[in-house]
Amino acid sequence: MIEFLNETPLEKPLIFDTHAHYDDERFDEIRDKLLSTLTKNSVGAVISCGCDKKSSIKALEMAEKYDNVYAAVGIHPCNIDSGTTIKEIEKLASNKKCVAIGEIGLDYYWVQDNKPQQKEIFIKQLELAKRLELPVLIHDRDAHADTLEILREYKPKGVVHSFSGSPEMAKELIDLGLYIGIGGVITFKNAKKLPDVVKMLPMDRMLLETDAPYLTPVPFRGKTNHSAMIYFSAEKIAEIKNATTEEILKQTFLNAENLFLK
Ligand code: NI
Repeated sequence: MIEFLNETPLEKPLIFDTHAHYDDERFDEIRDKLLSTLTKNSVGAVISCGCDKKSSIKALEMAEKYDNVYAAVGIHPCNIDSGTTIKEIEKLASNKKCVAIGEIGLDYYWVQDNKPQQKEIFIKQLELAKRLELPVLIHDRDAHADTLEILREYKPKGVVHSFSGSPEMAKELIDLGLYIGIGGVITFKNAKKLPDVVKMLPMDRMLLETDAPYLTPVPFRGKTNHSAMIYFSAEKIAEIKNATTEEILKQTFLNAENLFLK
């Protein structure tokens, strides 16, 4: 179920959601209502990510329809058998509203028996992004060591989304020039290392995201996530950073603009 947040206590659309999946079927009934009322819900910009050809095309269609929606196109590590080719991703990436290659990366949580293939597709897309001068949206689940090793070698510009590593890993990624994506998990009681990561993270390296429809922040955990919900993650981050929620939203908006829209 969707909770609309018409009373988000923000006067301006200060939220930049750098990672959402609005192609997800859970949005079928309400997608147009959500995307046509983003600014009314304090959301200034959204990147909808592709995970294969189909979802990448859907992301581009939404981006063409709505001014403040942008698209990322790519092959997710769980979808390397989808039949989508790098050539097809390259073609889709030529669309003006495509602002990144993603999401791409490694996922050893769901699949462990195809690590070499995952790495190969990840690396090919890092090379593609470099060639096209686009940033990347990186997915790293239970694959920290291999992800780091590849990023050290290829040094892309981009963000490690829904970051789940240690403060030490975050430090190394920042030194490589990458951004760290923080989402609803920061509001969870079992967020583990994430509060420490947020504590050490320089404010000019942080991006906010939903991963909608997943990872809905408290107090709506369990419901369908959407971009306006970032308000609650920002509120929690503000508490950790000893700042105001608006300050967090403004700075992360600026960061996302610098990375994706310039
Ligand atoms: Ni995602």
